[in-house]
Amino acid sequence: MGKKVTVSVIKADVGGFVGHSTVHPNLVEEACGRLERSDAKNLLIDYRVATVGDDLNLIMTHEQGTDNQDVHKLAWETFQACTKVAQELKLYGAGQDLLSDAFSGNVRGLGPGVAEMEFEERQSEPIIIFMADKTEPGAWNFPLFKMFADPFNTIGLVIDPKMHQGFTFEVHDLIDNERVMLLAPEELYDLLVLIGAPGRYCIKAIYSRRNGEIAATSSTQRLNLMAGRYVGKDDPVLIVRCQSGFPAVGEALEPFTKPHLVSGWMRGSHSGPLMPVAEKHASPTRFDGPPRVVALGFQLSNGRLIGPQDFFADPGFDEARRLANQLANYLRGLGPFEPHRLHLEEMEYTTLPQVRDKLQDRFEPLKEGSKGSEGFEG
Ligand code: F6R
Ligand code: MG
Ligand code: MG
Repeated sequence: MGKKVTVSVIKADVGGFVGHSTVHPNLVEEACGRLERSDAKNLLIDYRVATVGDDLNLIMTHEQGTDNQDVHKLAWETFQACTKVAQELKLYGAGQDLLSDAFSGNVRGLGPGVAEMEFEERQSEPIIIFMADKTEPGAWNFPLFKMFADPFNTIGLVIDPKMHQGFTFEVHDLIDNERVMLLAPEELYDLLVLIGAPGRYCIKAIYSRRNGEIAATSSTQRLNLMAGRYVGKDDPVLIVRCQSGFPAVGEALEPFTKPHLVSGWMRGSHSGPLMPVAEKHASPTRFDGPPRVVALGFQLSNGRLIGPQDFFADPGFDEARRLANQLANYLRGLGPFEPHRLHLEEMEYTTLPQVRDKLQDRFEPLKEGSKGSEGFEG
């Protein structure tokens, strides 16, 4: 067996510029400086620092395997150093995703999002790193289903002998902390009843049924209760391997031509269309959104990252952006009403307990058998 390479994408929001809209260039500079240092250089083969909205993404390649303590520590310390810079500049929410002061061997559960995969690099290894802001890991369910299970999106499933056997989907239940492996195409209906509810069931990974190779992995993670609230349900990242038995690059990008509605816009409490944009346009400003997705393509060359190619810079996605803006206009017209505003249980912000408390004495039981308004003695 040949040598294996690991691709680790670890992301955090350690301070926004301005508000929650983008990452300040000094943070990117600090992160690059950290990953350039000799201790990091001995650990990594290559790295890139990328941003989407207020999220800083460390894209790293190495030979240490997934969940490696040294790689996670490097990411953690990089985010800590960037937090210091954010604090000096008094950036907004400095250090907001570093939920603990103590690193315990792995960044999972401490705030940052993580997507990692280890594989034997093929003769040619094209990969895409998708990064989104103002949404949650379940946002990948729709595009992943289209890429790996929908023949109307991915013609390779129908006419490429290397894809025709289909794929295995690893689905996580984020509430009960369980997983199930489902086979496409035979179990499509079972798969859809789960992943159509992306607030609870998320696609963690996808494997080729031809050879068991990992094809995609996302930053879906167990919802951990920390600091009195659930964390780990944050702006997500996704790694997809392409071509030659996996979706072609264009098949992996195609689902984003139909901006689907995702949760996480304004105050993490609204639904909005996921707009595909170039990295330089990934600064969500309208109503703190709409939610954005960036796709960076790389060829791996013995672990070196050749790229990126900023895929959504293609004017081919102009119509998707236009549609996303039209959908955004429509939804904004609903203001505080569902389904623009999320269901009560899904909102990150709510005043409902206070309002119920305040009005407690004014709520009266409805009379038995009453058919209409019972009148009002003002
Ligand atoms: C959404 C997001 C923003 C903030 C909003 C309020 O994920 O990050 O929409 O929720 O700007 O922020 P605070 O409460 O910090 O004023
Ligand atoms: Mg932020
Ligand atoms: Mg963010």
